[in-house]
Amino acid sequence: MANFQRITPEQLRSRYWFDNPDHPGTTALCIERYLNYGITLDELTSGKPIIGICQSGSDLTPCNRHHIDLVKRVKDGIRAAGGVPFEFPMHPIHENVRRPTAALDRNLAYLGIVEVLHGYPLDGVVLTTGCDKTTPAALMAAATVNIPAIVLSGGPMLNGWRGAERVGSGTIIWELRKRLAAGDIDYAEFLSRASDSAPSIGHCNTMGTASTMNSMAEVLGMSLPGSAVIPAPYKERAMVAYDTGTRIVDMVWEDLRPLDILTREAFENAIVACSALGGSSNAPVHINAIARHAGIELNNDDWQRLGHEIPLLANVMPAGAFLCEEFYRAGGVPAILHELQSAGKLHGDALTVNGRSIGDNLQGRETQDPDVICRYNDPLVDHAGFLNLKGNLFDSALMKTSVISRDFRERFLNDPNDPEAFEGKVVVFDGSEDYHARIDDPALNIDARTILVMRGAGPVGHPGGAEVVNMQPPEALIKQGIESLPCLGDGRQSGTSGSPSILNASPEAATGGGLALLESGDRLRVDLKRGEVQLLIETSELEARRERLTQQGGYRYPGHQTPWQEIQRSMVEPLDRGMTLEPATKYRDVARQHPPR
Ligand code: FES
Ligand code: MG
Repeated sequence: MANFQRITPEQLRSRYWFDNPDHPGTTALCIERYLNYGITLDELTSGKPIIGICQSGSDLTPCNRHHIDLVKRVKDGIRAAGGVPFEFPMHPIHENVRRPTAALDRNLAYLGIVEVLHGYPLDGVVLTTGCDKTTPAALMAAATVNIPAIVLSGGPMLNGWRGAERVGSGTIIWELRKRLAAGDIDYAEFLSRASDSAPSIGHCNTMGTASTMNSMAEVLGMSLPGSAVIPAPYKERAMVAYDTGTRIVDMVWEDLRPLDILTREAFENAIVACSALGGSSNAPVHINAIARHAGIELNNDDWQRLGHEIPLLANVMPAGAFLCEEFYRAGGVPAILHELQSAGKLHGDALTVNGRSIGDNLQGRETQDPDVICRYNDPLVDHAGFLNLKGNLFDSALMKTSVISRDFRERFLNDPNDPEAFEGKVVVFDGSEDYHARIDDPALNIDARTILVMRGAGPVGHPGGAEVVNMQPPEALIKQGIESLPCLGDGRQSGTSGSPSILNASPEAATGGGLALLESGDRLRVDLKRGEVQLLIETSELEARRERLTQQGGYRYPGHQTPWQEIQRSMVEPLDRGMTLEPATKYRDVARQHPPR
């Protein structure tokens, strides 16, 4: 247990608002309106920590909605430990419904949380998380403001079932879309089967972006050990909500802050754990963003350098066979970390919110079921982390190697002379509408060795960055049994997708990236061993194309629909830099460096 110098009640940040006799007028104004619903003067002025609860649940956000009930236990915990809870809303973020994309909301919610944490009388905060972007938004804000903060995940849904078959969130949709395209099922059955994946409250039950990012919060040290993937309806979920409430009050007294926890070692732990989890391809974007706000330079080269060699240990969809209920029962995140620690791959002394090191928290936490959480020396897949590909079209693009299927490897990677390279002719789409309009056009001549390219899908081209790069082949090919083609694009893909796409190409076409210069019929060479993707044309031809594009005014993309789309587009960084708002990244430790005035 780290030895913390405890602060005194006089040092509580909330005293500035609630106990400031030098400014009786403003102090009275701060106090009087909180009394109007029954808070007592004693609660506000007797030196109790005021704890914010950032509420990410609402009727619009079903993945997080149960936090509305769960925070009752958080408040019980806060009060039991001598604090006073104040709940406030997070801007809603629901991955599946928000148009044009929920990714727009991550930075908007981030800004909102920063302003609340900075501008209101809060000594600490519980960050309720769940659906994909709620977790990074909250952690980015915690890093920027740096008041004591702890994450409470809402937890995944129970397993989905169809008869004896597991049905995983998101993953089933990608599967069923192919069945629908092949004519095996009709639309009504498509909907009915898709609904099987959502049997209870909670977020996606696969190792999609939600389970990944909540696991990442735990690995970073920002939530209580073992809490990330407790299924939402389990009694342990409410119990850990209570413990989270009691713990944040102690963290305030210990002055234990996010930037004490979010160190370089913590982020390196996140990278290795993400590989072992078979985590979402959105994790590098969000983790790099949190790191930027914490003042730590982390890039996609770090992801490949530290993460690629790590094996896949979690046998959870989309990379594996099980779902989060089994993953939790097998030991959850601590069991993954236990394996990594035994293999010497973890910085065991990184600090966590419970005041202990991550290594100390792992005693006795080995896997309870090696079929679900494998031993490090008997993994599902070797070298399962992301590759960071580069070439003459982009500086960085990620490939999630843990999901490369046997079929894909046989079709593309089995050149005996160079088993990790393949070449193909490209067919290029400008955004997802163009893809849907033309994919089945026989004139495109798409065959089993075509590489599908999606551009105009990055944070500027499709404001926020669209999850559209995992394109399915034309119906005619699916009917022949070709269920996937290599895809490349400057957008993202869903974390629940098992597609071995080349994603997040940065810079994107809309900001001068080389994908804007591609033409259908061009040939690409992908070399996984060298980490390269090269367009096979003369440099002079590439330059001539760039000149022509410049004369035409650059790559065209749809206009803004809302004020926020315009604002974000004017300042957003590329996906490899975390898609952060550039002017925001210089603010750090705001609560101490910029006291409220
Ligand atoms: Fe919300 Fe997957 S859609 S967690
Ligand atoms: Mg998603």
